[in-house]
Amino acid sequence: MRPNVACLLALGILQALAGAAAVTIYHQKNNPSATATASSAAASYTGAAAYNPTVLQPPPVPSPLNTQFVVQLQNGGTPGASIQQSGSFFGFSIEMSVANQVLGKNSTHIQVPFLNLMANLQQRSGRINIRVGGNTQEAAVLVDSTPDGRILEKDIAGASNPTQTPPLVFTPDLLYMMRNISNFVNVRWFLGVPFNDTSNFRLAIAEQGQAILGDYLIGLQAGNEPDLYARHGHRPSTYGPYDYVGEFGNLVNAMSNDANAKNRNLLIGPNIAYADWTTEMVWNTGFVDQFSNNLAYLAVENYPTDNCAAQFNTGGTIHNPQDVFPTFLDHNAGKGIIEKFRNSTDFAQQKGKKLLMFETNTASCGGFPGVSDSFGAALWGIDYALQMAHSNFSGALMHIGPTVYKCTASLSTPTNQSSFHQWTIGPLYYSALAVAETLGFSNTSQIMDLNANGGDVHTPAYAVYENGNPVRVGIVNFVTDPSGASDLQVQIAVGGSGIGQPNQSPSQVKVKYLLAPSVSQKGNYTWAGQTFGGIFQSDGRPMGTENVTTVPCDSTTNLCTVRVPAPSYALVFLSDDALAQSDGKAAPSTTFSTSMFTNTRNTATVDPSVLATSNGGFDKSRMGSTSPGSSSSGAGRTRAVLGQGVVSVFAAVVAGWVLVGRVR
Ligand SMILES: *[C@@H]1O[C@H](CO)[C@@H](O)[C@H](O)[C@H]1NC(C)=O
Ligand SMILES: *[C@@H]1O[C@H](CO)[C@@H](O)[C@H](O)[C@H]1NC(C)=O
Ligand SMILES: *[C@@H]1O[C@H](CO)[C@@H](O)[C@H](O)[C@H]1NC(C)=O
Ligand SMILES: *[C@@H]1O[C@H](CO)[C@@H](O)[C@H](O)[C@H]1NC(C)=O
Ligand SMILES: *[C@@H]1O[C@H](CO)[C@@H](O)[C@H](O)[C@H]1NC(C)=O
Ligand SMILES: *[C@@H]1O[C@H](CO)[C@@H](O)[C@H](O)[C@H]1NC(C)=O
Ligand SMILES: *[C@@H]1O[C@H](CO)[C@@H](O)[C@H](O)[C@H]1NC(C)=O
Ligand SMILES: *[C@@H]1O[C@H](CO)[C@@H](O)[C@H](O)[C@H]1NC(C)=O
Ligand SMILES: *[C@@H]1O[C@H](CO)[C@@H](O)[C@H](O)[C@H]1NC(C)=O
Repeated sequence: MRPNVACLLALGILQALAGAAAVTIYHQKNNPSATATASSAAASYTGAAAYNPTVLQPPPVPSPLNTQFVVQLQNGGTPGASIQQSGSFFGFSIEMSVANQVLGKNSTHIQVPFLNLMANLQQRSGRINIRVGGNTQEAAVLVDSTPDGRILEKDIAGASNPTQTPPLVFTPDLLYMMRNISNFVNVRWFLGVPFNDTSNFRLAIAEQGQAILGDYLIGLQAGNEPDLYARHGHRPSTYGPYDYVGEFGNLVNAMSNDANAKNRNLLIGPNIAYADWTTEMVWNTGFVDQFSNNLAYLAVENYPTDNCAAQFNTGGTIHNPQDVFPTFLDHNAGKGIIEKFRNSTDFAQQKGKKLLMFETNTASCGGFPGVSDSFGAALWGIDYALQMAHSNFSGALMHIGPTVYKCTASLSTPTNQSSFHQWTIGPLYYSALAVAETLGFSNTSQIMDLNANGGDVHTPAYAVYENGNPVRVGIVNFVTDPSGASDLQVQIAVGGSGIGQPNQSPSQVKVKYLLAPSVSQKGNYTWAGQTFGGIFQSDGRPMGTENVTTVPCDSTTNLCTVRVPAPSYALVFLSDDALAQSDGKAAPSTTFSTSMFTNTRNTATVDPSVLATSNGGFDKSRMGSTSPGSSSSGAGRTRAVLGQGVVSVFAAVVAGWVLVGRVR
């Protein structure tokens, strides 16, 4: 299926940070196909992938399921806990070709919903790590300007790869836009040096990236999935790890000869997909010792499932979403992905390096309808990220990319702000919030998979430690059971309840829940009572009042019994300090609000007329919920940023929609 150039990129609402690997959505709000009823079958659906109405059946309740178990924690150190982790562990990867839709149109038109989403995370973790790159970085060219003034242009006719990667040109304004974002929220960026021609490197992105982003540039990827180069025809069939290492050396040399590319010590490799090479094959070349000074991070990329066959007719296996759904809904899902990297996280530690999962998601090439956009994906994302943290990865970036879809009509570009597009917040954004709070912002937390409930894969639990002492416990219940019979009663004890050690259990604990009635549900999940709503309902601010549940502990048994509904994620704070270390209440807040107000209460609607006329300024102040009556709600204040022409609106009317591009 060849995408039609004329109907390229409409615009997107992106299902921001959604569960699908390739979730850029180009969509018209009034497109009937996108509001099709939930009963439509996936097979007959022709609308935007992220709004595919498919709702799957949750897997049956496992039998037997033990619903009551003890989690016994120790103070004073626990062998097997992870390396020290940061609350910004869970970050994002944005395919370069869609950066101008996810982040903003240009340096003076930044997406306010995006800023708000990042601000929510910053409040919890202090910073957010985002990579702009992917396959589209490989042949990208930095140009002074484009004919129509856009910061990115794709040449779809020149697409290569099974995944239709379009070559692209971009202007420095893309980098200025990123820099402007970092002026508002503490986003740190990864970029990639094009690797399509390693005898003639185009180093402009390294030069300009450094000049414009400064300290906000934290890494430069050298090659994206080089183990697939031969398979995709970008290198001879003999291309192997030593060839990659040689090319990496060429890059270091080229940068050494370039006075403006001083960031040759920010490089990231080998970024393999673990498809045609193993990581061990690369380590065995001596790569890390040879380039230790240049390697800021080590990285790999991996997806649990390849959905490219359905998307691109690659001839591979086409998976039925209903069949794969259960494979995402247990503890083996995340574990299974990273088992193959266990040696590599050990290896990284030995070499004093951090290993990143640089690009991942539920499935490559667009995810699965009903899976990637379901509550189940949120639970999967939490368990997977926490499993990576437990396994000594140092960060994981969930990928947001484009995908080719059917083109039904032509594109009309955004002309005014009257059709402000609300965003749809995907399940993995909720995972990001929950993981940020689970790890906290100390940078010193350690996490451990507790192998809880006799190792039952439906009920994994993790403990998080500070200075060797447990501070938080995270429990996932993957089961869907509206009867309540599969709700867990998890009995947490600290010290040595029942085994002859002094009790150190708290007198009470606090709990935040990530909730939805079913793993199949799409949208309207709640994290501690707050939600980003359903389709087109969010401007990136949480709606509703925060609800933190207090659970008293039994002073006789010293057990704190926490209910974990089926399904849900429960984050248990063993002290108020542990809560304060997580949700930003004690953190220096660098988030922002505006002088702008809307007429609505408790909705995330930005009044377009206000946006159109406001020239309000930018100011930094405390961020809060949008609930009426909450301390910072400001009667529906909209935290949009309107100073200096930084307008937020993603206003576009597209007569139809199309998705374009690639995803691995
Ligand atoms: C960004 O786009 C807007 C609207 O098209 C335009 O008015 C503005 O000049 C652009 N900014 C830059 C820096 O190109
Ligand atoms: C690399 O990409 C550039 C820009 O897209 C293109 O001009 C060039 O021909 C490519 N080189 C190779 C060897 O593929
Ligand atoms: C954003 O970037 C532009 C460069 O195009 C710069 O002139 C402008 O001052 C920046 N705006 C803000 C709010 O930082
Ligand atoms: C991990 O290391 C062990 C011991 O060196 C080795 O037997 C095993 O094959 C390695 N795993 C992989 C995936 O290479
Ligand atoms: C993670 O690293 C720590 C510290 O080296 C180690 O004790 C622990 O066993 C490692 N965890 C895993 C799952 O490899
Ligand atoms: C904005 O654009 C839409 C579609 O092009 C048009 O219908 C509408 O009248 C415009 N509104 C303003 C205020 O210009
Ligand atoms: C955590 O690490 C980041 C990055 O190094 C740093 O900016 C931040 O200040 C640290 N936070 C704390 C609480 O030390
Ligand atoms: C989400 O909630 C909104 C507001 O209550 C409702 O309009 C929408 O239909 C809900 N969506 C789903 C998928 O339940
Ligand atoms: C807060 O959450 C708890 C646990 O889910 C629930 O029982 C309670 O009804 C919620 N309270 C409010 C005010 O929503």
